[in-house]
Amino acid sequence: MKKTLIGTGFALTLMLSPLQQAFAEEPTKGELRQFDTVAHRGAAGYAPENTIAAFDKAVEMKADYIELDVQRSKDGELVIIHDTTVDRTTDGTGRVGDQTFEELRNLDAGSFKGEQFAGEKIPSFDEVLDRYHGKVGILIEMKSPELYPGIEEDVAQELKERHLDKPQNNKIILQSFNFESMKKMDTLLPEVPIGVLTSSKLEVTDSALQEFATYADYFNPSYGLVTKDLVDKVHNLGMEIQSWTVRSHDAAQFLIDMEVDGIITDYPDYVDPRN
Ligand code: G3P
Ligand code: CA
Repeated sequence: MKKTLIGTGFALTLMLSPLQQAFAEEPTKGELRQFDTVAHRGAAGYAPENTIAAFDKAVEMKADYIELDVQRSKDGELVIIHDTTVDRTTDGTGRVGDQTFEELRNLDAGSFKGEQFAGEKIPSFDEVLDRYHGKVGILIEMKSPELYPGIEEDVAQELKERHLDKPQNNKIILQSFNFESMKKMDTLLPEVPIGVLTSSKLEVTDSALQEFATYADYFNPSYGLVTKDLVDKVHNLGMEIQSWTVRSHDAAQFLIDMEVDGIITDYPDYVDPRN
C-alpha cells in the first residue's frame, strides 16, 4: 500500500521547508505524490547501517519499508550485513561466510558510525523478521547469493515459518542483483513480490525489461538510470519501480519528479516531510 500525502493550506506552507512546500503547493484532488519511503540499510544516514539501531530509527521516522542485506555465516545462520567482508562496518576482519554466527555476533557493528553506537551487533535475519514484520515493510536484498549455495531455500524457509509468503503480507519484497537467484525465489515463493536490481545501462533495454517482467514485480535501478520514459515502460510492463540510493535533496526531488513508486534513501526525512 503506498503512502498518500495530503495537501495543507497556503498559510501553513509559509512555515515549511522547500521540500515540504513542494508537497503542499501541488494539491491534486486532495492527494499529492504517492510513493513508498524505503530506509536504505535502515536509516543508514543516522545510525550504523543494517543494525537494530538503524531499523528502529527508520520506524521512528515513519518509513514504509526498511531495506536490508542478507548473507550467511559459516555455520549456516542468515545474517544482516552489506559487504561480503566485515572489515568496513565492524571491528573485525575477514569474509562473512568464513565466520561462525557466534564470531560475527561478538563483533562491534556500531562504533564505525560513532561511539554512541558502540556494542550494536550484526543482526540475524530471524531476529529482524520477528522484530519488524507487521510493523514496517521489509525489502530484503539477497546480497551476493552466489557465495552461499542454497541460501534461497534458507530465506524461503524463514519466511514460510512466519507465514510471510502469503499475499496478505505484501510488505515483504525480495530483491537482488543476481537475477538467477530471483528466478529461483519466484519459484520457491510464488506469492512474494520479486525485484531486480541494476546499475547497468545494458539492463534498461526493452528486451531486458520484458525478460524481467516474466518473473519480477519490481525493477529497481540506481537513480542515474531513471528517466520518465523508463518509469512509463516499467509501469506498462506491469512492474513497479523503486530507485536508490538517495543521499541528497536534489536526488530526492529528481525521483519525486520522475514519479517512481519507491525511493530508497539513507535519509527518510529527505523524502517524507512528516519528519
Ligand atoms: O536497495 C538498493 C540498494 O541497496 C542496492 O545497493 O549496494 O546498497 O546494496 P547496495
Ligand atoms: Ca542493499
